[in-house]
Amino acid sequence: MPHSSLRLAVIIGSVRDGRFGPVVAAWFAEQAQRHGGFEVDVIDLADVEIPLALPAVSPSIEPNPERPPSLAARTERLAVADAFVVITPDYNRSLPASLKAFIDWHYTQWDAKTIGFVGYSGASGGLLAIEHLRQIFNELNAHTVRNYVSFPRYPLFFDEEGSLREPEAPNAAAQAMLDQLHWWASALVAARDVAASA
Ligand SMILES: Cc1cc2nc3c(=O)[nH]c(=O)nc-3n(C[C@H](O)[C@H](O)[C@H](O)COP(=O)(O)O)c2cc1C
Repeated sequence: MPHSSLRLAVIIGSVRDGRFGPVVAAWFAEQAQRHGGFEVDVIDLADVEIPLALPAVSPSIEPNPERPPSLAARTERLAVADAFVVITPDYNRSLPASLKAFIDWHYTQWDAKTIGFVGYSGASGGLLAIEHLRQIFNELNAHTVRNYVSFPRYPLFFDEEGSLREPEAPNAAAQAMLDQLHWWASALVAARDVAASA
């Protein structure tokens, strides 16, 4: 199926030493390239200074506060993205604090855009973080797509080299989610254009 090209930012949410997130992100970024409908940009939060002390003024009043340089560089990449996929583990039945802080440092960059998720962790497979992220992005006027990919007890899925033991079902789940993201991203690009020219 031919696709027009849209910009997809893939965000690696965990930042701790020894994290597994980049393995999942590498697999997903390859899937996103293979889909063919997106220019893919991977944003790794481990490379970014994300202060926990947020700006003094709330984002609805000052949506673009001064940010540390490494954060500001990612802000520009969020601003040009049409869609996002967040790669997240569960930390204590929710998302990593690094990811929450990164989201909270931004506002208009999420507005009227679409978001998908890839989760991984122990028994819960990232689904508890994903449910919280749906609430968070709803507050930011972003649309989260129904389909997702989840890897509960991820060593059962990935071998020691970081390759999927049985890729067929996860690859199909990723492509189905990417199709939904592409549909929503196309619709929202058109809707934002109408709003901008009104
Ligand atoms: C602080 C912390 C809390 C965790 N809480 C959960 C949890 O609630 N549910 C779960 O299934 N796994 C949990 N885990 C296991 C992680 O999902 C697993 O270690 C995963 O590798 C973390 O992602 P990362 O390696 O990219 O940091 C937790 C791990 C950490 C470090």
